[in-house]
Amino acid sequence: MLGNTPMMKQYEEIKKDYQDCLLFYRLGDFYEMFGPDAELGSRLLGITLTARDGGLGKVPMCGVPFHSADNYIAKVISTGHKVAICEQMEDPKSVKGIVKREVIRVISPGTILEGNFLQERSSNYLLAVAKGDNGYGLAIADASTGEFMATEIPDWHTLHNEFWRFDPVECLVSADDAELLEEVKRIAGENRVTITSHHAHAFGAGYAEKTVLEHFRINALTSLGCEEKPLLTIAAGAVLDYLKMMQKSRPANIMRLHVYSLKETMDLDYATRRNLELVRSLHGADRKDSVLGIIDYTRTALGGRLLKNWLEKPLLHADEIRRRLDATEEMVNDTTMRLACKEHLDPVYDLERIVSRIAYGTANAKDMLALKNSLAQLPALEKTLSGARSNYLKGLYEAFDTLDDIHALLDASIHPEAPFSVREGGLIKDGYHEEIDALRDVLVNGKQWIVELEMRERERTGIKNLKVSYNKVFGYYIDITRSKSADVPEEYVRKQTLANSERFITPELKELESRVLGADEKLKELEYQVFVSLRSAVAEQVERILKTAHCIAQLDCIFSLGQAAVYHNFCKPVISEDGQYILKDCRHPVVEEKLKDGWFIPNDVHFHPEQERFLIITGPNMAGKSTYCRSIAVASVLMQTGSFVPAREAVMPVVDRVFARIGASDDLSTGQSTFMVEMNEVANIVNNATKDSLIILDEVGRGTSTYDGLAIAWALTDYINNTIRAKTMFATHYHELTALEDQPGICNYSVAVKEDGEKITFLRKIIAGGADRSYGIHVASLAGIPEAILQNARDILRTLELEKEQHRPKANQMELFCAEAKTEYESIQNEIEERQVFVMPEVVQELAAVNMNTLTPMDAMNLLYSLQKKAQEVVQSGTD
Ligand SMILES: Nc1ncnc2c1ncn2[C@@H]1O[C@H](COP(=O)(O)OP(=O)(O)OP(=O)(O)O)[C@@H](O)[C@H]1O
Ligand SMILES: [Mg+2]
Repeated sequence: MLGNTPMMKQYEEIKKDYQDCLLFYRLGDFYEMFGPDAELGSRLLGITLTARDGGLGKVPMCGVPFHSADNYIAKVISTGHKVAICEQMEDPKSVKGIVKREVIRVISPGTILEGNFLQERSSNYLLAVAKGDNGYGLAIADASTGEFMATEIPDWHTLHNEFWRFDPVECLVSADDAELLEEVKRIAGENRVTITSHHAHAFGAGYAEKTVLEHFRINALTSLGCEEKPLLTIAAGAVLDYLKMMQKSRPANIMRLHVYSLKETMDLDYATRRNLELVRSLHGADRKDSVLGIIDYTRTALGGRLLKNWLEKPLLHADEIRRRLDATEEMVNDTTMRLACKEHLDPVYDLERIVSRIAYGTANAKDMLALKNSLAQLPALEKTLSGARSNYLKGLYEAFDTLDDIHALLDASIHPEAPFSVREGGLIKDGYHEEIDALRDVLVNGKQWIVELEMRERERTGIKNLKVSYNKVFGYYIDITRSKSADVPEEYVRKQTLANSERFITPELKELESRVLGADEKLKELEYQVFVSLRSAVAEQVERILKTAHCIAQLDCIFSLGQAAVYHNFCKPVISEDGQYILKDCRHPVVEEKLKDGWFIPNDVHFHPEQERFLIITGPNMAGKSTYCRSIAVASVLMQTGSFVPAREAVMPVVDRVFARIGASDDLSTGQSTFMVEMNEVANIVNNATKDSLIILDEVGRGTSTYDGLAIAWALTDYINNTIRAKTMFATHYHELTALEDQPGICNYSVAVKEDGEKITFLRKIIAGGADRSYGIHVASLAGIPEAILQNARDILRTLELEKEQHRPKANQMELFCAEAKTEYESIQNEIEERQVFVMPEVVQELAAVNMNTLTPMDAMNLLYSLQKKAQEVVQSGTD
């Protein structure tokens, strides 16, 4: 117990329901924190910790001013904590004793509505995960924009991918599901995601369904498309329930639930998104050095968020891709349209977030003005779209609602210089509301009346410096210097005597005062009422506004793609139907942008489903292998986003997935070693890729011993080329792999360098054929490794190379392996016959099916091993 004063008792009574929050307790012009909250709060916010008498002793206390609370709340939230806002529910002036207080809202990272807490171009996602026998239900909401989606997910890995695609700030799980909590924690790792255990009953199937039905005011789940999707419904219900609990009102800005399937768009897994640096660079969270940074010329926050979604969920259907590409092309070619978009999108504010605040009833007059100013651009944007020729833009034109009625209403009613506060008047325009005008008249004239009274009294009393002033204690009073005391008329009532002057009132002054001050208060109250009803009227139109907002976001994305294509000199790709994949002079847009002082050397790529589907890229360190491989993957993702691609010419098929596994990285937060991470990524690729996928392998098997690594890389190449048959680029320093070129489908390429004695020059040009040196020591010297070490390394390398030369596999080694396998098989066969054991036909069949002409030495070894193992089992069972 902190104390026994009535206030402390009230505080503790309220606090008990908000244990996991920092309670902001309104006290006059401050929000105060007490006890442990004060200690934590002062630490988080860097504010002074004081103390207050609680009746039983000193209670730690700290506070933040009410009018600047937003910044402090944002700071608390950014540390992953929640804030409960406890307000005074009565006017302290009108009650005796303790004022009634209530928590009016709880703010957590995932339930923020205020624009200034949020990053403009990023969504602020709240997730809920539900688990069942057949997988997971996932619901995703952005309370600040009203976006709401849900899906069902088969397994943990996919959940991991979806989780990070949304990059949530908060995730809900049922309070009674400890196992799921652990799973989600494993996904979230060390990252700053607040994981909230929400009431278990909200995750009950029946309860959740009821929540969803009630929220959308419907009577069957069919209308949302989530019938027979119990897990999805549970997750969606939990999100709605949580938002309602936190906001203390129905989340009215959530107008629809988008039930999506993971098959609608390309599933880019977490590793691929990360490795391709789609939305942020590998080292740091900077959006600028990412692919998104290159194509993002959006002018509005709406467009910025949508473009990020587009890039992370590329399209899979050629028709849809063509629609976007045609629109982008129109934007590229039509400079007038581009200029008009820029001009009229620029002034558009974050409509989704403003509208959310309107729907929740927290919008102020500045928000309404921002809405009005945004709506003012709509006719011009509609006109821009009216001449569009591409189907996509024509579609936007047809769906576009210029919302003239809402603009007219706001234009007529809201004062252009309205303040932030909705309680202090100045909100409503003159001429909109009769009573408001009348009260304003009283106020204006009232001031004049007071000035007139002052002049009259000066004349009557002959006191030239008589002055009418105002303060909070006395209201209006007459101020007269002491030297003139003798001239003060009798009817003046003395209120206060100061060192140099005296203060008086008169009945006439008080009468005027009551009219003027009364009008002021009445006016403020009336303006507030009128404002609130205006806000409700606009709230009725939320659906229409959001629809137009979505049109604007799409237009902004197309504008951005068009602008990027012009700026970076991208070309329109042609979608090929026969699997041909040709890029001429392809560039990596991010690396190109970073090469301020140099030229990016463009390169070609050509995949053919039969002859050239697996490209092995060798070449020295630093030559540009990774850059080359990634530029191809990036081009595919861009094309399927609807963007032009960084090349001179492009013919590309639609790929069903892009996989990119690059270099070595630890994932300590999920408890995985470097090599384990690598193998997980590889497993994911081979388990999910198809012949229509594009795979980028940049070094595989480097995290383990040379032979283990080489063996894995070799077997992987073989499997992907022959079994999966996906378009693949494999950049590697295992020069041994170049021997695989004999296999149909595999081709060797390398990055050219010019050698001049010890010196090498990187030419960055991809040429046919493999390389046989890595020049690693040369690159090490460029990096500044001391000469003594380098010299030693050169000596060791020479010895190793000599040894290798002696043991180099001979051209006929494959036959040797096979002969060995055959002899081994025959001896087993004899032994089995001797013992009259039944031979498993599998072993024989397997051997009979082997194509000796295409068998690699590594395969031969593997085959021999597996045949022997099977045969030994047979022998063993025969002897038992
Ligand atoms: N086509 C290019 N034109 C100009 N500069 C390039 C090009 N490709 C790569 N570079 C530059 O070379 C650097 C190294 O490229 P990259 O990482 O692709 O080499 P790598 O061959 O993969 O090296 P490693 O074998 O060490 O992984 C890049 O960071 C970039 O600055
Ligand atoms: Mg590399």
